[in-house]
Amino acid sequence: MSSLRVAVLASGTGTNLQAILDAVHGRDGIEVVGVASDKPHAMALERAAAAGVETAVFERSSFAGRAQRDAALGDWLEALDAGLVVLAGYMQLLSAAFVERFRDRIINVHPALLPSFPGLDAIGQALAHGVKVTGVSVHFVDEGVDSGPIILQRAVEVPEDLDREALEDEIHRVEHELLPEAIRLIAAGRVSFDAANPRVVRTISGGDRVSPR
Ligand code: GRF
Repeated sequence: MSSLRVAVLASGTGTNLQAILDAVHGRDGIEVVGVASDKPHAMALERAAAAGVETAVFERSSFAGRAQRDAALGDWLEALDAGLVVLAGYMQLLSAAFVERFRDRIINVHPALLPSFPGLDAIGQALAHGVKVTGVSVHFVDEGVDSGPIILQRAVEVPEDLDREALEDEIHRVEHELLPEAIRLIAAGRVSFDAANPRVVRTISGGDRVSPR
C-alpha cells in the first residue's frame, strides 16, 4: 500500500483540516503527521490536538523575517518527514526558497475557479464581478499567488439572489470534498504532470499508477 505523510498549514477555523482528518487521515496509507499555524489561537490547532496530531506555531513576529520563519517551518516539516504540505486556509505568503524546497509537494485550496479571482476574498471578488458560476480549485503551489498548476476544480453556481452566505456554504461544502480527494489521488500516485506541458496536471481516477515528475 502507498503511504503519504501529510502536514497541514492553517490560519483559521480549520474546517478544511477537519475534512482531511475525517475523510483521509489514517486511511489508504495517508497520515496527517503535523499541523502548523501562524496564529497561536487558530481553531485549526485545537482540531489537530483533538485528533492527536502534533502541532506547532510559526508566528511571523517570532522571526526576523519571512525567510527565517519559512526556514524554521521547513526544518519542522522535514523532521516530520512530510511528503505533502497542504495549505488549508493558510493566510501567509510562502517564500520562494520554501516553495523550491518543497517543489511539487505543496497544494492549496482556493475558493474560486482559478485563474479567476486569485488572492484575498475570492468569493467577494466573484460576487462583485457578477459571474454566474464560480467554484473551487485545488492546485500545486508555485512562487506566485494562487498561480500553480491546477489539480482539481469544481464549479458552483452563484445564487440568483447573490446570497453571499449561501454561496460561501456551498463553496465550503465543495472544498471539503475536493481537498481530501486531491490528497487521495496524490497518495495513490494518480497525479502527474503532462510531459509536453508541465502546467497541465493529469489525474487518473482508475488504471495504472503513475510517477510524479
Ligand atoms: C477556505 O475557504 C479556503 O479556500 C481559503 O481559506 C478558507 C479556509 O477555511 N483558502 P477553513 O479554515 O478551512 O475553515
